[in-house]
Amino acid sequence: MSGISRRKFLQASGAGAVGGALAPWSAGHAQSGPQQVGDATLPYPEHALGKAGELEPGRPVTFNYPDEQSPCLVIRLGSPNPVGVGPDGDIVAYSQLCTHMGCPVAYSAEEKTLRCPCHFTVFDPELKGQMVSGQATVNLPRVLLRYNPDDDSLHAVGVEGLIYGRQANVLETA
Ligand code: FES
Repeated sequence: MSGISRRKFLQASGAGAVGGALAPWSAGHAQSGPQQVGDATLPYPEHALGKAGELEPGRPVTFNYPDEQSPCLVIRLGSPNPVGVGPDGDIVAYSQLCTHMGCPVAYSAEEKTLRCPCHFTVFDPELKGQMVSGQATVNLPRVLLRYNPDDDSLHAVGVEGLIYGRQANVLETA
């Protein structure tokens, strides 16, 4: 790539085009060193999200992860899920950026779906963010969560799937 740095390309390619409201529930980032995610070790930060008990079923809370330009949603589904965490195993989290063109998806508690308002793609938060219908061809990236039962705390520790507009989920910081 000539005449433009990789970092500038990433910034211009859409990451951060859509912002999400930061919830006071979200406490911020703390560097915790490399995280083991699947088969790869990547330098994901650890992000303290808050207490699991403060999440109400069907009422998602927004946060940014792995950096401030990446809006995400954490949802308490209200019923146990194979990839859910928390005391009831029903808490999941996803990137809020639709994999089609990066519009922010919204949760429908009635349908238990994540819906994109731009071209109507529907994702299933109960099936690891699987694309159900619409223009997108890729599932919604899933934020990996860790739950600590000792203090009821939730932490974001990685992302499964490529966040819209990026060549890598964790951007260069230097
Ligand atoms: S941006 Fe979501 S369907 Fe097009």
